[in-house]
Amino acid sequence: MPGRLTHKTAIVTGSASGIGRAIALLFAAEGANIVVSDIREAPLEGGEDTVAEVQKIISKNKDSGKGDEEGRKQGVIFIQCDTTSASQVENLVQQTVEKFGRLDIMINNAGVGELAPGPIYDYPEEAFQKCLSVNVTGVFHGIKYAARQMRAQDPLPPSSSSSSSSSSTTETEDKTSRGWIVNLASIVAMGAQPGAVGYTTSKHAVLGLTRTSAWDLSASLIHVNALCPGFTHTSMTKPYIVDNEAARDELRPMHPFKGFGDVRDVARAALFLSSEDAAWVTGVGLPVDGGYTAR
Ligand SMILES: NC(=O)c1ccc[n+]([C@@H]2O[C@H](COP(=O)([O-])OP(=O)(O)OC[C@H]3O[C@@H](n4cnc5c(N)ncnc54)[C@H](O)[C@@H]3O)[C@@H](O)[C@H]2O)c1
Repeated sequence: MPGRLTHKTAIVTGSASGIGRAIALLFAAEGANIVVSDIREAPLEGGEDTVAEVQKIISKNKDSGKGDEEGRKQGVIFIQCDTTSASQVENLVQQTVEKFGRLDIMINNAGVGELAPGPIYDYPEEAFQKCLSVNVTGVFHGIKYAARQMRAQDPLPPSSSSSSSSSSTTETEDKTSRGWIVNLASIVAMGAQPGAVGYTTSKHAVLGLTRTSAWDLSASLIHVNALCPGFTHTSMTKPYIVDNEAARDELRPMHPFKGFGDVRDVARAALFLSSEDAAWVTGVGLPVDGGYTAR
């Protein structure tokens, strides 16, 4: 049985650690070629690096036929990239195509958390600019250079397990998707997070980028969607939801369904938005938040 992403090639930025790492591992299990990319190679949370973990998954896939079919070998590489640099992101896409021949899925996950919590009247300029630079400009670069490549290449035929919209309609137009772009926004993209003007502003902007790019790329049949996770256990949130008892007790009940998230919860939603199951989904900010935004 092929996996849901067999034959596809995915870049996951910021995938040395946390949510990006979980996405890389899940996409590998589903048969994709994986480009692990980050500004640093070692996971912030410690342990083995993502490429080594993906390699183990690829070996398992060999037995089940999820990754290797018709002589094609599933693979993984690490490419160091600071997403704030346009030339580095352009090079990331170029190197991916040199190695795997194409790019089908771009996960713009690299991000920084709130750097200088405090009210706007005391908020440091550098912290604000840093949030915008990584969380907004980095995502802009990722969408831009991924879209250029996706527009230039032939689409893959839909996998046999999917129900392609073109096969079940009377329309003759080809509706085969040419690419899937997923941006990591946040629950704070949809409302205020007092004392976090840098991070909150940047995540609102990610939704703006997502919605506008979805329209710009609709004629090219490239999906652009965002995920809006609630507080999820990673190095980024440890200072709030593990180390700080008062913050933890305040934030936990705001996620009425199961409390804080696990990185795999977010990865599974990323898989949906990167697959043919999302055939008619573009321009959304999907909350994955245990009910946080349902209030
Ligand atoms: N953890 C949460 O609760 C949560 C909630 C909502 C949204 N998010 C978003 O999810 C994404 C991943 O967060 P996480 O919690 O896994 O954080 P994390 O800190 O565990 O991982 C972030 C990764 O991004 C990398 N990175 C940082 N700056 C970079 C740059 N300029 N170029 C390339 N890589 C860079 C880091 O090295 C790190 O490996 C972020 O965009 C974050 O804002 C996280």
